[in-house]
Amino acid sequence: MFKVAIVTVSDKGSRGEREDAAGEVLTRVIREQGWEVAATALVPDDIEMIMETLVGLCDRQVELILTTGGTGFAPRDNTPEATLAVVERPVPGLAEAMRLESSKITSRAFLSRAVAGIRKRTLIVNLPGSPKGAKECLEAILPILPHGLEILTGRAGECAQRFKVEG
Ligand code: MTE
Repeated sequence: MFKVAIVTVSDKGSRGEREDAAGEVLTRVIREQGWEVAATALVPDDIEMIMETLVGLCDRQVELILTTGGTGFAPRDNTPEATLAVVERPVPGLAEAMRLESSKITSRAFLSRAVAGIRKRTLIVNLPGSPKGAKECLEAILPILPHGLEILTGRAGECAQRFKVEG
């Protein structure tokens, strides 16, 4: 069981002009894992507001933050920049895995500038804004997230099993 926050980044969503469909889909997927959705947030595509939200959630000791939206090429797409501004240790492999898996479904997957990284004891992962894209990307990394989160939160001490060299 991990504590997860889901942050939807959308100007229209934050003005109430669009329903938060991706946030709802992600909430469902996370609960199906048996993990807790400890917080949800809906913020506009404002870099300072995104940063503030991410820092606040890390301070509340959420273990995983999933953002959805704002990873594309539009002038207001700021989520990767806000994420990189608050993380201490980037985790490029997660974004690489999401793009690789998603590219089997649509080559437009490579248009997402999503990043992932660690701030203190929290992993932050950017997902695209469409409900379908967000779900596909999350499902691409779900099998490997538990091990990373166990190491990050101190629930697992080491990756490799100890082995004895014979002879
Ligand atoms: N990834 C998956 N798995 N499925 C998708 O449909 N859409 C792409 C990409 N990643 C997509 C995807 C598209 S069309 C864009 S423009 C980028 O994500 C950025 O989306 P965002 O600006 O909503 O974050």
